[in-house]
Amino acid sequence: MAIREILRMGHPVLRQQARVLDAAELASEQTRQLVQDMTDTLRAVGGVGLAAPQIGVPVRLAIIEIAGGVGRYGDIAPEPLSIYANPDIQVLDETPQGFWEGCLSVPGLRGYVERPGSIRVRWQSLDGQHHQRELNGFLATVFQHEFDHLDGRLYVDRIRDLRLLMFEQEFLRHGAPEL
Ligand code: NI
Repeated sequence: MAIREILRMGHPVLRQQARVLDAAELASEQTRQLVQDMTDTLRAVGGVGLAAPQIGVPVRLAIIEIAGGVGRYGDIAPEPLSIYANPDIQVLDETPQGFWEGCLSVPGLRGYVERPGSIRVRWQSLDGQHHQRELNGFLATVFQHEFDHLDGRLYVDRIRDLRLLMFEQEFLRHGAPEL
C-alpha cells in the first residue's frame, strides 16, 4: 500500500499529453503497482476518480470509484472500482449537463462545468482486452474529467464564467450562486 503525493495545478506534468501504454506495459508488474498506488491514494483522500498524471506518471490510465449515496457531490449512484487504460470517448448526445466539479489537483475549489451528458467510452483493461460502455449523468462527467487529465486539461479550463468558481467551503455553506 502506497499513498502517493497528488500533483497540484501548476505542476507541468498536469499539462502534458500522457502517452499510450503498449500491451507489454499494460501487463507489467509496474503498471499493476501503479494502479494499486492510484487506488490507495484515491481512497485515502476520498475522491471519485484519479488519473495517472496526477501522481506524476504521464500515461493514459485512470481509475474511477464512487461510494454512492449522499456525499460532497450530492446524491449519486455507486460505481465499483474501474480501471481505464488507453481510453477514448465518442459523444452520443451533445446536450450539455452541468455539475459542480472538484479535482484533487485543484484542492479546495469547486467549479461549474458543462459537458455532454451521454458518451460511449472504449478502453483496455490491464490484460489487454478491449471494452466499451455507455455512460450517462454524473458518471459521464467524471469520466470526461479524468480523460481530460490524460490530455493535460483541468476542469478549470472549461469554466465559462469565472463567477462559477468557488471555494468548496463557501459552496457548501452558501450553495450554488444564482447567475
Ligand atoms: Ni481531476
